Amino acid sequence: MRLRRIVVVSREAEVQQLARQVAQEIFVADDLAEALDIVETVNPNLILFDHRFSPSHIREFLITTDNNSIVVPVVMVGKDENDTGSSAEFIKVGAYDYLQGRQDYGRLEQIVSRIKDKSKAIEADRSASDFFAEDLAASVSMVGWSKAILTTLKMIKLVAASRCNPVLIMGETGTGKELAAKAIHILRHPNEPFVAVNCAALTANLLESELFGHVKGSFTGADREKTGLLELAGAGTLFLDEISEMPMDLQAKLLRVFQEKTFRKVGGIKNIVCNATIMASSNRNLQTETQANRFRRDLYYRLSISPIIIAPLRAPGRREDIPLLAEYFLKTSTICPERHNNISSLTKLAIEALQKHDWPGNVRELCNVIERAILLETTDKIGLSSIVIDLTECGQLLDSPTADRIKSFSLAKAERELISRALQETGWQKTQAAVILGITRATLYAKVKQYKIEKGSYIAKELQNQVSAPSLPQPVTAP
Ligand SMILES: Nc1ncnc2c1ncn2[C@@H]1O[C@H](COP(=O)(O)OP(=O)(O)O)[C@@H](O)[C@H]1O
Ligand SMILES: [Mg+2]
Repeated sequence: MRLRRIVVVSREAEVQQLARQVAQEIFVADDLAEALDIVETVNPNLILFDHRFSPSHIREFLITTDNNSIVVPVVMVGKDENDTGSSAEFIKVGAYDYLQGRQDYGRLEQIVSRIKDKSKAIEADRSASDFFAEDLAASVSMVGWSKAILTTLKMIKLVAASRCNPVLIMGETGTGKELAAKAIHILRHPNEPFVAVNCAALTANLLESELFGHVKGSFTGADREKTGLLELAGAGTLFLDEISEMPMDLQAKLLRVFQEKTFRKVGGIKNIVCNATIMASSNRNLQTETQANRFRRDLYYRLSISPIIIAPLRAPGRREDIPLLAEYFLKTSTICPERHNNISSLTKLAIEALQKHDWPGNVRELCNVIERAILLETTDKIGLSSIVIDLTECGQLLDSPTADRIKSFSLAKAERELISRALQETGWQKTQAAVILGITRATLYAKVKQYKIEKGSYIAKELQNQVSAPSLPQPVTAP
């Protein structure tokens, strides 16, 4: 049984040889300072010290490594004279074990297997619970130990236990608003439905009939009765994503639901009781929106009784979550199972790079960067070179003349094709096509114009031969 890396702090060939028998790689250091340097860089599984070092040396060394959050077992290799006294002294200052000279060398194998078992147990433990600050966090898969995220978790717990309805969740894009909404949902009524709608993705009319439903014949095209999401949510949750984008007159209708706890289908006369918890998210500051007359003040007051606010990842109080989240995504990503099982962690430099970035896309962006790193990394540890944060570099590459061919033959054309296909598949229903593509209608219009896409122009012949078409994403439906 072998360990991956051992640092040997000894000039003695015999001690180095001993290490070689139980390690895939050994690193030799001459003195304590060098040992510290090496340990920080290679993250070994074991350190061997020879008899030159005293218990106070070892104590000092362990205090320094501990301050740097490095935990590596230290084994002393003593001299041949039988000296049981010093063994106890070394153990007292924190050494893992003590080999009493040559006659005791054989015991190193046992020590190694003990260390391996222990690190396996720690590993298993870590993937199960160490990522989560508390049981609640574990039940809702919310990672973080910063004060900011713990405060958010506390609010989630309070709101979930109360009857607070509606619930407003604010935070930049990718901070985990939907995750927070699901957390409250799970804590409050786990067996009821959770339905979500993105208010930015639909036109005013469509959004209204999505939410309230409609009766047959209530408008042209309403050829059958439709149940709205408010009704589908039952006693569960209706999640209104990006509520700031909801048209003003619909905001007024929503407010009425909050006040009266009933609603009517579009064109209907029957009052339907609303039992759902309505949660809304916004990545805009709704207060500013009300000041600019883009959001109804009365609705804002109604929503903001006890808002849940999630800090962006770059906030000073949240940066400490970055390494933990990175490791969590490394452990849980399913992007490339055969590879990521072999990647154990991130190097110190990689973590530093993550901590320096500002993360405008927040946790979602971090998750993407880690998944990209899993695909790029070839060793057992994610290093700096696999951390590709700034894709503008790749963009510049595409802008260079030598890459003109790639640019014109893959990116633009693939996009054009995806859009054509979405339009084709929805029978040129632009709203629906935009939802499928995950873009706004305005963007869709702009792209249709930019690429001069017309009905019937679906898939240029030349393209079919050159680009294997990416598949269309499916619209997200409520579970
Ligand atoms: N604290 C967290 N712990 C673990 N995963 C998180 C956390 N915050 C966000 N995520 C993940 O990041 C992604 C974006 O979160 P999401 O809730 O969709 O953000 P938002 O709705 O604010 O844009 C999701 O995959 C989510 O699971
Ligand atoms: Mg979201």
